[in-house]
Amino acid sequence: MESPFKGDILKGKVALLTGGGSGIGFEISLQLGKHGAAIAIMGRRKTVLRSAVAALHSLGIPAIGLEGDVRKREDAVRVVESTINHFGKLDILVNAAAGNFLVPAEDLSPNGFRTVIEIDSVGTFIMCHEALKYLKKGERGQASSSSGGIIINISATLHYTATWYQIHVSAAKAAVDSITRSLALEWGTDYAIRVNGIAPGPIEDTAGVSKLAPEEIRSKATDYMAAHKFGEKWDIAMAALYLASDAGKYVNGNTLIVDGGNWLSNPRDLPKEAVNQLSRAVERKPRDSPVGIPKSRL
Ligand code: COA
Repeated sequence: MESPFKGDILKGKVALLTGGGSGIGFEISLQLGKHGAAIAIMGRRKTVLRSAVAALHSLGIPAIGLEGDVRKREDAVRVVESTINHFGKLDILVNAAAGNFLVPAEDLSPNGFRTVIEIDSVGTFIMCHEALKYLKKGERGQASSSSGGIIINISATLHYTATWYQIHVSAAKAAVDSITRSLALEWGTDYAIRVNGIAPGPIEDTAGVSKLAPEEIRSKATDYMAAHKFGEKWDIAMAALYLASDAGKYVNGNTLIVDGGNWLSNPRDLPKEAVNQLSRAVERKPRDSPVGIPKSRL
């Protein structure tokens, strides 16, 4: 779909996106780039980074790929520094890196729980923390109201009530929302940095949906959804454009729900045994190729 925003709304801006090489993260990279920003993508997979950067270059978007794991502070430092060395500054940080899998709480190991918390919540904090000195555009308390950088944290709606077999992600995303509000308060006040979140609902063609609502249970799941359909990556990227541009200049500390109202209802009663098998089957597949669930696994 065509963007309703003008093509130059982010002209001259530099954006760093974790998890920006695939799924929702890549669509945000693409749309920020199409609207004028130079793009640095951080991710763990070299092949994914390479093809994402090539796709952006083919559209004339200045872009670099930087290997790194958001759980490691030294990676965050290196990636932020490399962005500055390459593009000279940093204006927008998008935290889109996330980990997920379906698993009943009683079958989830503490390390499985910790892994998702570390990627989603700790990783988000680490990246914000390391990016801060470049997102500040003036001295503490001296920045004018529109002069600071922008942070956008990708969250979820899972934790608004409770979601089956998502205790780890629900806890992790609740922490992300809380980080968004705390940083908006502290860094918004001190440095005019705007910190907002986006909470996507189920989005077509993403690893998240392949894992959480694979083909075999998708039609059943949509029966329970208020919108009766999944969203598109484009929907999330447009929300990111709004928040990253001056259109959102008076929005701070907010997590924008982009899910067609689906959070108002929740799919229930997915069969636990099928979920267990499904989750393991998906994780066994190579992560570089699109995921799908063989019917034989159900
Ligand atoms: N069900 C239950 N536990 C699982 C699991 C599953 N499907 N997948 C992993 N785990 C557990 C592991 O058993 C391990 O715990 P243990 O040491 O007690 O056995 C722990 O989680 C860490 O697993 P590991 O594979 O070492 O972690 P990783 O860092 O390589 O991978 C994941 C992290 C598991 C979150 C992986 O799915 C990932 O990196 N995903 C990123 C992409 C993604 O999920 N995108 C979707 C965003 S919505």
